[in-house]
Amino acid sequence: MFDQGTRHKTRRSHGLIVAAALAAFALTAGGLTATIRAIDDQAAAGPPVAASSSPAAAGHAAHGHTPAGQAAVAEAAAPKNTQRADAPAYRPAAVQVIDWDMTEKVVEIAPGKVVKVWTFADRVPGPVVRVRVNDLVRVTIRNRTTMPHSIDFHAARIAPNKAFTDVMPGKSWTFEFRATTPGVFMYHCGTAPVVHHIANGMYGMIIVEPEGGLPKVDRELAIVQSDFYVSDTPGAPADDAKLMTGIPDVVTFNGYAAQYKEQPITVAKGEEIRVFLLAAGPNTWSAFHVVGTIFDRAWTDGIHPENLSVGNQTLNLSASQGAVAEFRLDQEGIYPFVTHDFTNATKGAVGLLRTEHAAGTMSH
Ligand code: CU
Ligand code: CU
Repeated sequence: MFDQGTRHKTRRSHGLIVAAALAAFALTAGGLTATIRAIDDQAAAGPPVAASSSPAAAGHAAHGHTPAGQAAVAEAAAPKNTQRADAPAYRPAAVQVIDWDMTEKVVEIAPGKVVKVWTFADRVPGPVVRVRVNDLVRVTIRNRTTMPHSIDFHAARIAPNKAFTDVMPGKSWTFEFRATTPGVFMYHCGTAPVVHHIANGMYGMIIVEPEGGLPKVDRELAIVQSDFYVSDTPGAPADDAKLMTGIPDVVTFNGYAAQYKEQPITVAKGEEIRVFLLAAGPNTWSAFHVVGTIFDRAWTDGIHPENLSVGNQTLNLSASQGAVAEFRLDQEGIYPFVTHDFTNATKGAVGLLRTEHAAGTMSH
C-alpha cells in the first residue's frame, strides 16, 4: 500500500506521537469516555475462548510433521468461532475509546475446519463498533503477535499513511478521527499483503449513526459476511494458493458456517427488524436476501435520505460495502437469510430467523 521508505519514516515518529497520545489519554482517562472493548455479552454467547489451549499442537501441525492423533487433538481443542448476532447499543460518550489487542488463536470456522486466525480483540469478526456523527473516536491497538499489523477505518477521513500505519510486534499505536458520515463501514488490517490479513480474520463493522441517532426499532442485528481459504493442515492460516484463486472453502455470517441455521435467531412476528450488514470479503460479495419478505427500507453504505431504497428483494454489496436493511416478517414461520449467490450460501452464508411461535421446520 505504501512504499517502505514512507513506512519507516512514519514509524520512527510514532514513538513520540504514541507517547503524546498516551499522555493525553491519561489526562482524560477518568473523564467522559466509553471504552469499546470486546463486547462481553457477545463473547460470552459462544463457547469459552481457549486462545492458548491449542497453539502448541497447531504449531506442530503448521510445520507438517504432526502425527494424525495430534492434529485430531488440535481440532478437538479448537473452540467454535460463533458469535451472537445482536447489534450493540449506542453508548454516548465525549470520546469513543476503542482499545484492542491484536492476537492470534486457533478456532473452528465450520465443522471440522480448524484454522489459525489473526484478530482484533481476540475475535473474528472483530467487535462491532457503534458511534454517532461528531463523536471523536480514539483508537488504540496493541500488537500481541509476531508480525506487523495495523487498522484501517473506512469511516475515517484521515491521512492513511499516518493513521493506518504498521504496528510492530509488542508495540501499540493510538490515533483519533471524528465520525463525519453516517453509514455502515468496514475496518480491517491494512498491512501488506492485505488479502492475507483480511482472509485470516482482521476485519469488522463500524456503525456510524446520524446525529441524534437512528429511529428506534424492535430488534437490531449485525451480520458480517466473510470468506475463508482453509489449509489442509489443521490449525494453519489461510492457504496462499487457494486465496489467490479467490474461491473460498467456507463463507460465514459472523465467523462460523451456518451457525444461525444450527441456532436460529428468534424474532417476533411483525416486529421491526433492522439488520446492519457488511461484506468483509476479502473476496466474496453479498447478495443479501431474506426468504419470505421484502425490505421495507435499505441504505447501502451512507445512511442518507438520498441513499434510501424501498422494496429491495436483495442487497448488492461488493467486498467492503455495508448496508442497513429494515423489514418485518408478517407471519409466524422460519425465514432463511442467505447470500443469493447460492454457491456461497452452500459454503455457509446461510441462517434462519424463526418467529417465537413458528411451527414445523425448514425443509432446506
Ligand atoms: Cu494484520
Ligand atoms: Cu479497505
